[in-house]
Parts: sequence; structure tokens; C-alpha cells
Amino acid sequence: MPTAAPIPNDLESYWLPFTPNRAFKQAPRLFARAKDMHYFTPEGHAVLDGTAGLWCSNAGHCRDPIVAAVARQAEELDYSPAFQFAHPKAFELASRIAALAPGDLNRVFFCNSGSEAVDTALKIALAYHNVRGEGARTRLIGRERGYHGVGFGGISVGGIVANRRMFGTLLTGVDHLPSTYSREHQAFTKGEPGWGAHLADELERIVALHDASTIAAVIVEPMAGSTGVLPPPKGYLQKLRTICDRHGILLIFDEVITGFGRLGCAFAAERYGVTPDMIVFAKGVTSGAVPMAGVIARDGIYTAFMRGPEHVIELFHGYTYSAHPLACAAGLAALDLYREERLFERAKALETKWADAAMALQDLPGVLDIRTVGLTAGIDLASRAGSPGLRAYEAMKHAFAEEGLLVRVTGDTIALSPPLIVSEAQIGEIFDKVTRVINAVD
Ligand SMILES: Cc1ncc(COP(=O)(O)O)c(C=O)c1O
Repeated sequence: MPTAAPIPNDLESYWLPFTPNRAFKQAPRLFARAKDMHYFTPEGHAVLDGTAGLWCSNAGHCRDPIVAAVARQAEELDYSPAFQFAHPKAFELASRIAALAPGDLNRVFFCNSGSEAVDTALKIALAYHNVRGEGARTRLIGRERGYHGVGFGGISVGGIVANRRMFGTLLTGVDHLPSTYSREHQAFTKGEPGWGAHLADELERIVALHDASTIAAVIVEPMAGSTGVLPPPKGYLQKLRTICDRHGILLIFDEVITGFGRLGCAFAAERYGVTPDMIVFAKGVTSGAVPMAGVIARDGIYTAFMRGPEHVIELFHGYTYSAHPLACAAGLAALDLYREERLFERAKALETKWADAAMALQDLPGVLDIRTVGLTAGIDLASRAGSPGLRAYEAMKHAFAEEGLLVRVTGDTIALSPPLIVSEAQIGEIFDKVTRVINAVD
């Protein structure tokens, strides 16, 4: 049985991220430990993890092989300088990740968070054109309702106004594709909707407006996760690839959520048969156990930089903790677990069952749409008059306090993305609990 953990007596010093601090501190939601599919509060109450933490603990929590690998690594080599020196596990993990990525996506640059990795990919795109003598390609194209973390680059290409409006003008020379979501045309679709591929043609309009010679890259999440699980319309990503190729524009997939099995493949690029020029990854690479992220670039991008005198740094970019030994150890152990337990295949095998269970909620009060793809689901609730976001916020609190279920909410959408070890019975349990929650916040 879980043991009780102390509740902190100073709640004021910690400024929580993306959290209403005052409300939180009046009724804190704390986790003291976790195992497999569950968190445990300091009082010892079990909370079923419907969201893999924050879309990251794909192998479940505190898995013994990852715990052991991190502990061993902490004793053996705690830190190794990331610049001008390296350690063996960094190379080993890079090759393991490259082997999972499609095509010639073989070169891995390590970062510590999705936000850093997004900014890294954008910088590589700009620098790549620069070293090839196309330095006028500085424009970056994102998408409405895209989330690419909170660095200045990420919020500039991102399409969430709340993440931007307090912070000034940000990067200039950014444009946005329209969101691929339309409730009118797509409501209650399992998997990729049939409507919306034509929205990729908006890229042609943007190219015509700015001229291809000014555009460096397009960045999209294959499935937009943070704005409520928006699977790509059938054929949309393929079209983006074709248009980017036509105009020499780099295509970046932000797979921070979709990477490492979430959609039933190592990467969404594989699911959709589209090879981007760079993949941004984070979260699942260590199953959330140690912060790690990175960018996988195609061979041609890496080799474009390998010029000039050999003692000169080719890319003036990097982080003190790039390829941190503890993160590499966790990453290798997580990849082993994914392989040994066939967790990506498992996500694929469970997809229909998951989608059916989610869609069964469509007649509950206030449910406006349900979307699913891989082991993800987004459930849109009708907003309370004058208070957007309140109903889902209440749902999240109710789920935690009354149902012992962790859900994620964004706006008035409940988002679900359990660890890939979720059992069929637990899928039933998650949606039974969500059903009661939705009824409770009617
Ligand atoms: C698609 C995507 N990109 C980037 C990020 C940012 O990652 P991080 O919070 O690790 O900086 C996230 C986080 O959820 C994400 O979903």
C-alpha cells in the first residue's frame, strides 16, 4: 500500500506553470508517487492516469528498468560536458532514435524540452538555408491552433493567442496556415477526418503572397494535441509535403506528442507515410522520466553544415544539458521497454476499442464533438455562458477529486492520452469515469 507523504506547508514560493495559481493553492492537487497506470496523492489515494502525465509517460510510471537505468547512470557518470566532449550513451541513443525515424532522418540534435527542440528546429531551418546561400529564406509558417511550446520561436509559429498576447511582437516574418478543424464538417469522426485536405492548399496562397524565396520552413503538429486533439484530414500532410517540395521549403513535424507510439507508430510520419525534413521530439523519448527532447534532421541538412575548416564549430547552438547522461540512460531504457513490450503496436491494436469507447459518450449532455486517433481523444463540452473553459476546468477537478482520474483540459475540451500500457479494462474504467464526470458538470 502507498505510504502517506508530507504535504508542503509553504505553497506560496512555487509559481506553477500554466496553472491558475490562486485557485490551485486554495485546493492543491498533489501527487506523491506513481506506479504503472496510477498516481498516488500524499494521502495515498490512487488516481488513474488518463493522460500519461502530460502526454509523456508512454511506458507508464516508475517502470523498474527505467528507474534502474537512471540510478545506475547517476552513480556512474552524472554529467558530461555537452560541448566539445560527449559520452557513449549519447551516440547510442541518437542511433536508436534515428533507426526509429523514417527515411534519411538520421541526425539527432538533443535538447531538454519540446520548446527548446522547436526553437532548435526553426534555427536549423534558417541556418540551413543560410549556409546554402539562400539566406533570404527567413519566413516561418505555422498553423492556427498549433502548439509548439513556449520559446519565442514556438509561440511565434504557434497559433494560440493566449500564449502570445502578453509578450509583445515576437518573431517577425511569420505566417499561419488555417486550422484543419471544422466541427461542421468533421464532428464525431474516429481517426482522420475525410474533410479538410484542401486546407493544405492555403500554403500555395501564402507562397504566392510572400514568394517561396523568403520562406524557410513550415512547422505543424501531425495531430494537434494541446488545442484539443485535432487529427489531420486524410491526405492533408501529403499535400503539405508536395507543396513544400515544389518550393524548396523545409517541412518540420512537431512530434512532441505524437512521437514514441502515441498514434500506434514510432512517429506519426510513419503512420501517414510522409517524411518531413525534421522531426521534433520530446516527452515519450524517456517516457517522461527525465527531461529530454531533440530534433531529427535528414542527412542532407546535417551535411550542408559540414563545411569550412574542421576545427570551426558548424552550428552555433546547443544546451548545457543536451544529451544529459541521465536522460540518455532513461531514453535507452524507455526505448527498450517500448520494443520489448511492443507498446507502439499495442497502441495500434487498442485504437479501435479506444475510439469506440470514446465515441459512446457522444450523447452525453453538453458534448459537442469527440475526436480520436491512436490512443488520444478530445471531447468538446459546451462552454458555460460567459465563462469559456470553466466547464472543463470543473470536469478536471471533479475527475481528480471524485473519480480518481487524471484528465487534461484545454479550453472546454477534455483530452485523454493514457500510457500505452493501458489495459482494455482500464479503457472501460477511464470512459466510465469520464461519463460520470460529464454528467456531474452538466
Ligand atoms: C506539439 C508540442 N510541441 C512542443 C511542446 C513543448 O514542450 P515542452 O513543454 O517540453 O517545452 C509541446 C508540449 O506539450 C507540444 O505538445
